[in-house]
Amino acid sequence: MKDYENLHLLGKNVMEPRAYFLPQDAQNQTKVFSLNGVWNFSFEGEKRELPVPSCWQFFGVENPWYTNIQYPFPCIPPEIPQDNPTGVYTCSFVMDSVSKRAVLVFLGVDSSFHVYINDRLVGYSQGSRETSEFDITEYVVEGQNTIKVVVYKWNVFSYLEDQDMWWLNGIYRDVYILVDPVTQDIFTKTTLDDSYTDGILDVELSFFEAVDAVRFRLDGAVYEWNVQSDFFKVRIEMPNVRKWTAETPQLYPCVFEVLQGGSVVELIEEKIGFRRVEMKDGFVQINGKAVTFKGVNRHEFHPETGRTLSIDDMKKDLDLFKANNINAIRTSHYPNHPTFYALCDEYGFYVIDEADLETHGLDLIQARNSLNNDPDWAPAFVNRMQRMVERDKNRPCIMFWSLGNESGFGENHKLMAVYAKERDSSRLIHYEGDTREIAEANKVNPFISQKDSIVSDVNSGMYTPVAALELLGRDTNLAKPYLLCEHLHAMGNGPGAVKDVWDIIYKYPKLQGGFIWEWCDHGILKDGKYLYGDDFGQKIHDSNFVVDGVVFPDRTPSPALSEYKKALEPVFIYKNEKKEGSYYIENRYDFISTKDLVFELSVYDEETKVYSHLFTEDIPPHQTACVDFDYNRTENENILEISVRKDGHEVTFYQEVLSARLETTALPPCEAEDVAVSAVCETRNGSALNDLNFDFSIWRAPTDNDRLGFEEYGVTSVAAKWKKARVDMMQLVRRTDETAGDTRIVTEKYGAVSLDWGYDLIYTMKQVVRGVAVTVDGKVFGMNKPETVPRLGISMKVDRCFETVRWYGLGEEETYCDSCAGKKVGVYELPVSKMETPYIYPQESGNRSGVRWFELHGAGKKLRIEQQDRLLNFSVSRYDAFIIEAAKHREELNPNEYLTLYIDYAQYGLGTASCGEGVLEKYQLKCSDFSFSFVVNEYTV
Ligand code: GAL
Ligand code: MG
Repeated sequence: MKDYENLHLLGKNVMEPRAYFLPQDAQNQTKVFSLNGVWNFSFEGEKRELPVPSCWQFFGVENPWYTNIQYPFPCIPPEIPQDNPTGVYTCSFVMDSVSKRAVLVFLGVDSSFHVYINDRLVGYSQGSRETSEFDITEYVVEGQNTIKVVVYKWNVFSYLEDQDMWWLNGIYRDVYILVDPVTQDIFTKTTLDDSYTDGILDVELSFFEAVDAVRFRLDGAVYEWNVQSDFFKVRIEMPNVRKWTAETPQLYPCVFEVLQGGSVVELIEEKIGFRRVEMKDGFVQINGKAVTFKGVNRHEFHPETGRTLSIDDMKKDLDLFKANNINAIRTSHYPNHPTFYALCDEYGFYVIDEADLETHGLDLIQARNSLNNDPDWAPAFVNRMQRMVERDKNRPCIMFWSLGNESGFGENHKLMAVYAKERDSSRLIHYEGDTREIAEANKVNPFISQKDSIVSDVNSGMYTPVAALELLGRDTNLAKPYLLCEHLHAMGNGPGAVKDVWDIIYKYPKLQGGFIWEWCDHGILKDGKYLYGDDFGQKIHDSNFVVDGVVFPDRTPSPALSEYKKALEPVFIYKNEKKEGSYYIENRYDFISTKDLVFELSVYDEETKVYSHLFTEDIPPHQTACVDFDYNRTENENILEISVRKDGHEVTFYQEVLSARLETTALPPCEAEDVAVSAVCETRNGSALNDLNFDFSIWRAPTDNDRLGFEEYGVTSVAAKWKKARVDMMQLVRRTDETAGDTRIVTEKYGAVSLDWGYDLIYTMKQVVRGVAVTVDGKVFGMNKPETVPRLGISMKVDRCFETVRWYGLGEEETYCDSCAGKKVGVYELPVSKMETPYIYPQESGNRSGVRWFELHGAGKKLRIEQQDRLLNFSVSRYDAFIIEAAKHREELNPNEYLTLYIDYAQYGLGTASCGEGVLEKYQLKCSDFSFSFVVNEYTV
């Protein structure tokens, strides 16, 4: 049997798992001898050079392969494919001195490997996202050495690595040799005393050999102990310690010195954070406070390097998290590069560190709990937990050890939890599978568990529908709080209802937070184009389901991010309904006051700021203040805004429409007399009336959320329902067009192909001073109409000469009725080409809602459209809905010779049906009668 087929072989000569740390010698010189660099690589007889670390699929060796749930090989554990693609890495290196001890460290090799030094086999390891270390003291020589690493694509434990992501291989994290390390392991366990004032630091050190003494330099103090052993343990108490939280990431730099014969032989620099994590009074408490986890699920991913990330890549994500009010990270679904956690300590994030374990594909053969209950597999389960806990145990940011993802729940999970608890009493256990097993047994509502989870300290769920969240929030039977370890599936355009979900989370303390799925789109950049599951020639794959982040692969935010940012706002402002000009400011931070924030109250009349007032408020955490203002405003509709900033960056905002004192917008349609027309512009002659041509528009290019639907969440694709009703095939069956004086009336009858339903439309156009006032009346008829439709409105073909769009409404990013809370009303300007959001998989995008007026500018012309009886939705593009729908990548979009301008009465919401709940009832667009009006004017400037 090959090593990689052996279920009973977790490794050969692999050293005991231990903490990640980088020792130095007495002169502060690192003991790390890096083997990163260019290696020789041979794959199926072909030789080339390959950078280490890297994923070989990014260097022309094999194609990346994407599957979500399904294993890309027969699911007959422990069998794996006979044909096991293998990459052989070699390089040579020169060691200065033959050291007393040399330890070879691999931070990540996917999936398993043998390692040889100077042609002698050193050992074998597996566990793609774990560290493997080998003692190579006996193998290396002074001078020239060679190393060979034989990496296998599959190994028997590939069954445990079925995460929803690209299958990638190679030595994809750093490789190095530790020269003469003395310290074998270090554990800096911290907590606080019962009054949360004093810090308690328990240090455990073990050494490869007995040492004479240790010295700690911590916070200006120097402690020294005689050891004379290979193990040392001490407790240090720090009165009135500066506490670590995500909001106050206080770290104490500490230097551990190891002494032999009176001199220092090793230095280890650590940063220590004091905090206490516990379950108390039914909540996860940090330093005695029930915090709210405002989280994100983050995979390690880069569009050009896969799972190999630089420190700058990591920082880029963390900076964006901070800028978007995120305070927690789930390392979905495996331990990340160890440096990532050190950065989280410094930036301040609460981390759920997740074991590299997912067996989701077993669901497809109805064997979800087969491996997790099989004692033969127990060592592998526990080993993954052990390696994570040991490696990361010194990082204060970690609040939870997670047993993995989507692997059912069985005895082997319990053993994992026991390992973590016994080794590290200072953190909690998270595992969603534990809760899911209990909840799914509940036939009444598979989202509601009737009992608390067994080993997980929190009840944890995914994509829980709003109504079920309400029930969970109100629950009084469960002792544990509920955490949404995944929610708000950010695939394509969406998710909708971010605010609705978070309103419920805030309403019920028992709902202790959520982690959005997921941070970034995993599109792979090739020749300027983002590729996904369909693009690599495999017969089975899961298409663009891998493209489901709130940021694009290059970390450009998708409009969903500002929705999430707003929902996570640390300061919540609302109106005191009892008093004009009076507002409540609620500090939602858990630990800090609002004193470092700058508030600005402004009043706008369209683009003009008519009032501004800067102020600060010192509101303690979880407290609310009431502030009165006396602002100026104009007679028109005004927007009152309170912007909350920190170091010049907007943290959040509050907006309110102060309606016009004179109801100028209430003029009856078609009677409008111009009051606001600019003097430099002239309306066109009366022919404008006859120039206007509208098309009825009811279809949109389905979004991922329209197209998909998961039975698991009780949702079927709404686009499929629409197509069944032929909403995408409406045909004109009759048209009349009559002009009498200054009024033109066009009637149209549209019917759905093969069916009996349709719409009768009347477009009433009347010449007014401002242009042409248009009223669109639509009446639905027929028995077989669908329940809902994607949009109701009109479209117009307009000249491509228009290049710029200006509008007064919500912006600047696109908005939909269930995705607009994070956007502000204002006057915006963008080039036509920037009005769409470049979703990797083409779909409906670019709608602007809450629109009072909009203008297209170009070639000395201006087309202006003003709302009449209701705020408008509009979008403009060289692609119409049908072109967009037909394309599978942006690059395939074939532009029209004109622009299509959609003006909608309404659009269907976005929802999150691609994985989760569909569009909430209140955001659905029913297939019913509608009517709206606007004024069109075209000027030559
Ligand atoms: C969850 C899973 C994630 C991802 C997501 C859908 O069920 O835990 O890994 O697959 O669904 O994108
Ligand atoms: Mg999965």
